[in-house]
Amino acid sequence: MLVIGGPASQLLASRVAAELGVSPVVSEFTRFPDNEQYLRIQADVDNEDVIIVQSTTTDSDFFALHQLLDACLTAASVTVVIPYMGYARQDKCFNKGEPISARAAAATIKADRVFTVNIHESTVLDHFPCRATDLDASPLIGRYIVSLNLERPLLVAPDHGVKEMVERVAGNLGLECEVFDKTRFSGDTVSIQKKEMDIKGRDVILIDDMVATGGTMVEAIKILRENGAKDVYVACVHPVLARNAVLRLYNAGVKDIMSTDTIEKIQSRISVASVIADAVRQ
Ligand code: R5P
Repeated sequence: MLVIGGPASQLLASRVAAELGVSPVVSEFTRFPDNEQYLRIQADVDNEDVIIVQSTTTDSDFFALHQLLDACLTAASVTVVIPYMGYARQDKCFNKGEPISARAAAATIKADRVFTVNIHESTVLDHFPCRATDLDASPLIGRYIVSLNLERPLLVAPDHGVKEMVERVAGNLGLECEVFDKTRFSGDTVSIQKKEMDIKGRDVILIDDMVATGGTMVEAIKILRENGAKDVYVACVHPVLARNAVLRLYNAGVKDIMSTDTIEKIQSRISVASVIADAVRQ
């Protein structure tokens, strides 16, 4: 079995390989003078069972995944792990003339098997031309939160779309959950309705599948702090953290931002490698 990490998921691929008891394959990633991407897998993939791990956070990452797939055409089988799948939020045609970008992306992934992690919308899985399964990082986040020994921790979902995931984070760990009501006005403008909650003097952990511009979390942090929360933390699966999201969150008073390593950032302290390795083994 060969575990091949793409340029966006080198650390996670290495962790998955370690879980599976193999060394990660080394690949070369560089660019031609005209900025086109060059990639070379430094292993013979002929007749091998190959696992490619590559998040598609940017368009370049997406193309690198295609380059890896093409370089693995002679493999015996190809399993693709897309820990964070970009474009998964564009899962509907909201206005006439728009593409369903998530479908456009998924339909091109020709492999034997696909795994994603907490994909934004599960219907996107149906657009892959092979069996695609979404893996759940929620229990890992729950265990990490428990290890922090916080003051009467309360888990809060910033909107109803993520309520079930937050309940899975709480799992059997004895953690309490609450949910806010959110209205989105544009890509980076949201409003969160105030709500009575037992938060005075408590540590609150806001949890979402992803933090993109930080707009959702900033609004929620403000309300929680106005209502007497002790420290407010942000936890997510996918730390997209676009533009100035980190500065916005700390400016709003967040104590810490923690996430998984589906996107590799300084905040990515919770590894999903064990979940991926378990799925691949099965
Ligand atoms: C939306 O449905 C998602 O669960 C997140 O709440 C959203 O993508 C976060 O985006 P932002 O950080 O830009 O508010």
